[in-house]
Amino acid sequence: PCQVVVLISGNGSNLQAIIDHSQAGGYQLAAVISNRADAYGLERATRSDIPTRVLDHKTFSSREAFDGQLMQEIDAFDPDLVVLAGFMRILSSGFVEHYAGRLLNIHPSLLPAYKGTQTHQRVLDAGELQHGASVHFVTAELDGGPVIRQAAIAITSNDTAESLAQRVAIEEHKIYPEVVSWFASGRLLMDADGILLDEQRLPTCGVQ
Ligand code: GAR
Repeated sequence: PCQVVVLISGNGSNLQAIIDHSQAGGYQLAAVISNRADAYGLERATRSDIPTRVLDHKTFSSREAFDGQLMQEIDAFDPDLVVLAGFMRILSSGFVEHYAGRLLNIHPSLLPAYKGTQTHQRVLDAGELQHGASVHFVTAELDGGPVIRQAAIAITSNDTAESLAQRVAIEEHKIYPEVVSWFASGRLLMDADGILLDEQRLPTCGVQ
C-alpha cells in the first residue's frame, strides 16, 4: 500500500487518528519524524511499531541545512506521501518543491482565514461565529496551498481558546485520515490549477 511518512512536533493526536485509520484507508506509515525529542507522538508511533527519527532543528546552522537533512531522512523511507501533523516548522522552498503534489498539512482554521499561529484566540478576538480546520497541499506560500477539505464548527459564547482547540481537534481527526486515504487510492491530485478529486484517476501509489 501507499507509504506515508508523518512529521510531528508534539502531541500527535492527528498522527494517532491517521495510524488508527491506516488499515481501512489503504495506506501504511513508513516512519514518524519529529524535530523535538520530547514529542509525545513518538511514543504513539513506537506503540504501533512504526520507526521513528528525531532531527533537532536547533543543531543546524540554517533552515536550509535542517531541511536538507530532513529530506534525506524522509527519502530513506521512499514515501509516496509526506504528511505534516502538527509539525511546527516553516519549510524552505527547496523542501516544498521536492515534495510538490505529495505533501499535505492540516491547519487549525478555515483557510484562507487565519493563517499562522494562535488561530483559536485570534478567531475569538475577532468575534467570529465559525471556526474549523483545513487540510491542504503544501506550496511555497505559508498555509497557502490548495485546500482539499475543511470541517467547520459553530462558536458559542462559552467558547475559550482551549475549548475551540479541543473541538477543532475532534474535527481534524475525522477529516485528515480520510484525505490521506483519498490520496492513497489515487483520487486526489494537485495540478497547476489546484486540486483534483476524481474517481477515474490512476492510483498515485500502491494499487489497492
Ligand atoms: C493541530 O491542531 C494542527 O492543526 C496544528 O497543530 C495541532 C497539532 O496537534 N497545526 C498547526 O498549527 C500548523 N501550523 P496534534 O499534535 O495533537 O496532532
